Amino acid sequence: MKKRILGNGLNVSEIGLGCMGFSHAYGTACDKGEAVRMIRKAADMGYTFFDTAECYTGLCADGTVSYNEEIVGEALAPVRNHVVIATKGGVRHEGDSLAVDSRPATLRASVEGSLKRLGTEVIDLYYQHRIDPNVEPEEVAGTMQELIREGKILHWGISEATEEYLRRADAVCKVAAVQNRYSMMARWHESLFPVLEELNVGYVAFSPLANGFLTDAFGKGSTFEEGDFRRFMPQYQDASYDANEKLLALVRDMAGEKQATPAQISLAWMIRKKPYIVPIPGSRKEHRLIENAGASEVDLTEMDVRALDEALDRMEMSGVFGGHAAK
Ligand SMILES: NC(=O)c1ccc[n+]([C@@H]2O[C@H](COP(=O)([O-])OP(=O)(O)OC[C@H]3O[C@@H](n4cnc5c(N)ncnc54)[C@H](OP(=O)(O)O)[C@@H]3O)[C@@H](O)[C@H]2O)c1
Repeated sequence: MKKRILGNGLNVSEIGLGCMGFSHAYGTACDKGEAVRMIRKAADMGYTFFDTAECYTGLCADGTVSYNEEIVGEALAPVRNHVVIATKGGVRHEGDSLAVDSRPATLRASVEGSLKRLGTEVIDLYYQHRIDPNVEPEEVAGTMQELIREGKILHWGISEATEEYLRRADAVCKVAAVQNRYSMMARWHESLFPVLEELNVGYVAFSPLANGFLTDAFGKGSTFEEGDFRRFMPQYQDASYDANEKLLALVRDMAGEKQATPAQISLAWMIRKKPYIVPIPGSRKEHRLIENAGASEVDLTEMDVRALDEALDRMEMSGVFGGHAAK
C-alpha cells in the first residue's frame, strides 16, 4: 500500500486499520484468536498503521474481557519493527458518557498500562483521547514532551482537537496528528485543514465510513445485536435511509463509474483531498480489509473530489453519530 507522512516524519500506510471493533462498540467482542489472525492478515496486506486505545474493551461470547491493546500487541509482535502502533489514553467509559482525565499522573499511568498490554517498549503515536477542560493544553503537551524524552512514546496527537487547543499544545510540544471524526456525513472539522497545513500536523480520520453506513451495505430493517452501538446511531434509524437516499446514490454512482465499491469511494474521497489525511476504517472481515485497502488504488481525480464535495455541500442528509458526551 502507498505510504503517507504524519507530522515531522511518522511514516504510515495510506489507509490504517482501526482495531476498536474487534473488542468494542460493535456487539460481542471478537474471539481473541480470530482478531489476532485478522490483524496479522491486515499487516500481510500492507497496512502498517494500527489504531487502538486503552478504553477499547468489551465482553467476548465466553464472558471474558477483550482488551484491544493486548490483541493488537500480540498480533503485531512478529512485525513490530515494521508497523506503527497508535493508542490513546485519558478517558474512561462511564455508561453512555466518557469521563475525561488528562492530569499528568493519569496519562503517565495510562501509558505504563498501554506499554504493558501492547507488549512493546515504546508507543509510536500516543493520543490524548479527548480534551479535558480541567487541564490546560500546555500541561498535557508538557507531559507528552516528558514521555517522549523518556522514550515511552515517539510522537503524540490529540483526538477531537479544536483549533485553539491544537495551537496551544503544538507550541509546547510538536503534535504529529489529530485524530478526529471525518466522513462524507461528518465534515465539520474541514475548517481545521488550513491550521493543519500551517502547523504540519496530520489528520487521522476516524469513523471514515460513518460507522459503516457509507458502504451501502445496510437498509431499512437492518438489525444489530445487543451492545452494537449502531442500534442507536441516527444514521441507522429507518427514516434515515429515506433521508440519505441521495447520498448513497451519489457514492454508488461514483463507485460504478470508477469500478470501485461505495466504501472505496468514501475512503478515496478523503485521501485524494489532502496528502496528510489517513483514514482508519475498522472491519472484522478479511474481504473488507482487502476492499478498504483497495481504496488506495482508486483513480479519483481532483475534479471528482470537487464534484463530490459540491454535491455534498448541497445535500440534505440525516444526522450522524457524533460520539458520546464527554464529562
Ligand atoms: N478517537 C476516537 O474517539 C475514535 C472513535 C471511534 C473510532 N475510532 C477509531 O476509528 C476506527 C474506525 O471507526 P469506526 O469503527 O467507528 O467506524 P468505520 O470505520 O466508519 O466503520 C466500521 C464499521 O463498518 C463496517 N465496514 C467496514 N468496512 C466495510 C466495508 N468495506 N463494507 C461494509 N461494511 C464495512 C464494519 O463492520 P464489519 O466489522 O462487519 O466489517 C464496522 O461495523 C476504530 O476502529 C477506532 O480505531 C476512534
